[in-house]
Amino acid sequence: MADMDGYIEATSFGLKEVASYADFKVKGASNLGWGMKDRLSRIFNPLTGRTVMLAFDHGFIMGPTSGLGRIDLEIVPLVQYADCLMCTRGILQSSIPANVNKPVCLRFDAGSTILTELNRNVLIDVEEAIRCNASAMAVMFSAGDGERESITAANLVKAVDAGNRYGIPVMGVTAVGKEMVRDARYFALASRVCAENGATIVKTYYCEGFEKVTSTCPVPIVIAGGKKLPEKEALELCYKAVNEGAAGVDMGRNVFQSESPASMIQAVYAVVHNGLTPGQGFELFQELKNK
Ligand code: R5P
Repeated sequence: MADMDGYIEATSFGLKEVASYADFKVKGASNLGWGMKDRLSRIFNPLTGRTVMLAFDHGFIMGPTSGLGRIDLEIVPLVQYADCLMCTRGILQSSIPANVNKPVCLRFDAGSTILTELNRNVLIDVEEAIRCNASAMAVMFSAGDGERESITAANLVKAVDAGNRYGIPVMGVTAVGKEMVRDARYFALASRVCAENGATIVKTYYCEGFEKVTSTCPVPIVIAGGKKLPEKEALELCYKAVNEGAAGVDMGRNVFQSESPASMIQAVYAVVHNGLTPGQGFELFQELKNK
């Protein structure tokens, strides 16, 4: 029995007050369970509902690439500025200090280095995601032409089933390939299919008519940055994406291949969370770079 010394009977019940719970700002997540919401709240800032994810999972098919040669030197110093880290289990375990205290969106599929065979990626075990304390699991989904030979739809469903068992959100990563059309029709289709199949986050690309993609997808969309652009253009991309309905970015090359990666990620953060215009963001980038 608990120690009763100092026990005082409750007398104040606020009967006239309606019980209030903080708004949950992540799109489409109100009906999820506590564990899912807790993990989503680590990824998406509870005040803005937005996120800056730092993506450095490229090595899972490409090996060491520019900006990702030495994760300890090139990525670890940036981690403090990101809301969430997106990487593979191998890089997480080998190169990211376990005390950085950042949520992880774990790359959950793996496979061939042959780009045309990515559609046959397999999933890693959900126990691995639990061991890594993942806040989300990222799985590629490829819609349309290549789908006949693809197992990505099955992978997505399996990942969602596994994630739901343990309260771990799944991020559907809409695939793009050399042959694929990158327009609002394709991205809206792929994003919606991800959400309909249970993904609670979707990663896709910014495109002309992006509002169609975000408004028809019932869960938050984050955009990939794509190939390296001049810093101001990359900040414009972030600005347009969040102003046209994205909940943030999952950006890699435009950060770690920047001439000043730490300045760039802080500028991206300011555009996504603080509403800076691309011009203001670029000024901030230059100011930080020249410090
Ligand atoms: C692509 O499959 C990878 O998951 C990257 O994380 C993604 O493309 C984002 O990186 P980037 O901004 O360099 O395109």
